[in-house]
Amino acid sequence: MAPDVNSTAPSLPRRVPRHVAVIMDGNGRWAERRRRPRAIGHRAGARAVNVCIDFCLERGVEALTLFAFSSENWGRPEDEVGALMKLFMTALDREVDELERRGVRVRFIGERERFGDTIRARMDEAERRTAGNTQLHLTIAASYGGRWDIAQAARALAEDVAAGRLRPEEIDEAMLGARVCLADVPAPDLFIRTGGDTRISNFLLWQLAYTELWFTELLWPELDAVTLQRAFDAYALRERRFGLTGAQIAAQGESAA
Ligand code: IPE
Ligand code: IPE
Ligand code: MG
Repeated sequence: MAPDVNSTAPSLPRRVPRHVAVIMDGNGRWAERRRRPRAIGHRAGARAVNVCIDFCLERGVEALTLFAFSSENWGRPEDEVGALMKLFMTALDREVDELERRGVRVRFIGERERFGDTIRARMDEAERRTAGNTQLHLTIAASYGGRWDIAQAARALAEDVAAGRLRPEEIDEAMLGARVCLADVPAPDLFIRTGGDTRISNFLLWQLAYTELWFTELLWPELDAVTLQRAFDAYALRERRFGLTGAQIAAQGESAA
């Protein structure tokens, strides 16, 4: 029988996050410290993506969302953006078979129109080929910004209002929440950022409202299972109160036991 990952050990609650969201940061500095071009750091970072996917598959995580390229990253020097586009292309070519085999469903969120036709076609193909997989829902946020996400959701609602399908007074949090990206997976439980900076950098602004945040100085290309386990262990010890009191949460836990 498969181990119950959510079972409660005597002293330490063994809670595994259902959805993990990651800012993969520090590729450039990893390369600069080695006096190499930043693009080499991005290539090394692509390897760490597999470390993260393997770990989540082993732990029974349902959804993994990786921030690969932000709306603001388009403003980086042309040669770095070009190198990243090439890397996306080769990674898509190289990894899709393996993801398909391992039962990973891949999807992309972000402003896809900003990518060239070839990359867009590869993204569509990766999504189509893995659409039936259920082991892990992997979302790659590329050309993504949390502000863009909320704005596109607002625009969709405004279009419904303009078409007479919706009255403004009917709009509530649930309705907006259904239009932002990732509406069909649970909100992230655990957020991890590598690279030492302690900020959100326009990642999932709506979806991270009650996510547990965890930061590490480690640079993304150095990511290993030990570090991910540290993040998961820290998460398991957090008390998530969602605005309630600690006593209320304890009472909920007792009645559920
Ligand atoms: C993250 O690494 C990857 C992308 C933003 C594409 P960085 O390239 O931001 O690396 P640092 O933060 O400059 O070290
Ligand atoms: C966030 O990292 C975006 C990605 C990792 C894709 P940045 O390196 O762009 O963030 P800032 O500029 O340090 O806030
Ligand atoms: Mg960075």
